[in-house]
Amino acid sequence: MTSQITLRRPDDWHLHLRDGNMLRAVLPSTATHFARAIIMPNLVPPVVTSADAAGYRDRILSALPEGSIFEPLMTLYLTEQTDPDDVAAAHASGLIKAVKLYPAGATTNSASGVSHFDSVRPTLERMAEIGLPLCVHGEVTDSDIDIFDREAVFIDRVLDPIRRTTPGLRVVMEHITTSNAVDYARSQDETLGATITTHHLVINRNHILAGGIKPHYYCLPVAKREEHRLALRDAATSGEARFFLGTDSAPHTDANKLLPCGCAGCFTAPNTMSILAQAFEEDGALDKLEGFTSLNGPAFYGLPVNKETITLTKGDPVTYPSHVETPDGPVTVFDPGFDLNWRVE
Ligand code: NCD
Ligand code: ZN
Repeated sequence: MTSQITLRRPDDWHLHLRDGNMLRAVLPSTATHFARAIIMPNLVPPVVTSADAAGYRDRILSALPEGSIFEPLMTLYLTEQTDPDDVAAAHASGLIKAVKLYPAGATTNSASGVSHFDSVRPTLERMAEIGLPLCVHGEVTDSDIDIFDREAVFIDRVLDPIRRTTPGLRVVMEHITTSNAVDYARSQDETLGATITTHHLVINRNHILAGGIKPHYYCLPVAKREEHRLALRDAATSGEARFFLGTDSAPHTDANKLLPCGCAGCFTAPNTMSILAQAFEEDGALDKLEGFTSLNGPAFYGLPVNKETITLTKGDPVTYPSHVETPDGPVTVFDPGFDLNWRVE
């Protein structure tokens, strides 16, 4: 029985670090285990220009604990006013690694997102030319579309048309939650990648809604039926290069989660690696964990894999603090609902 595994140091291909007090409180959780992360730009106001991204990167670097080595991979938030030249310059200088598409109103701080896809066409075409990936929050926002169907409808109405009209554009389907998304990803060539979160591998919609409402399991895209969770588990543990980890760790204070209209987001950064090891072991796929967390993402983004390694050891249940404290109040750490036996050394 395997009791220890050593992996290339993992990267997180979708992470929310926020800013200010929250940034300083949550960054160590990621920097302890991960070498790099794609940093989501949905601040208030959003990270729209290369100057915004440069400023945000500096704030992240100065919030890093002494001696920790972590590289934030910056993104720009695509708006209908985005200047393709600014995007190209930010890419050429190495400042940004992707551009993020939020359909307007789809999720937390997405009010500046895109409503008219024709207005961003020049930017998408430029990105295809220069090989800069587009990270996509894949949900339509139409009020007549059921929230559990928003991802599947987005694939048909928005994503597939973008793929057809912008050949060569590298696209990441982010935080996929349905078998429809898994099937679509598998139908596409190597210019399409898909990230899967830790929490969507271990919860389905019953965890949120059955036996009392559990705000800490509420995130967007919302967790779906069990059959979809199983499709995600199959994809993540398949070893296929198109699937890689994007935790979507999205901290909100408990005060902002536990409201009549609470925020969406699960804070999984502290215990993600232990949860993933447990899940991959359960599926007899520990040998596929390194590909998912450490190899497939760099290959998609054309970046080197990390030289350093991390080791996980199996033993007595590991406990993580239930909260991370911030000056604005506690942030609850995601509870997978089962024992974690894998400890990151
Ligand atoms: C994210 C956030 O809080 O910024 N929330 C979430 O539920 N995942 C936004 C997002 O990625 O949709
Ligand atoms: Zn996110």
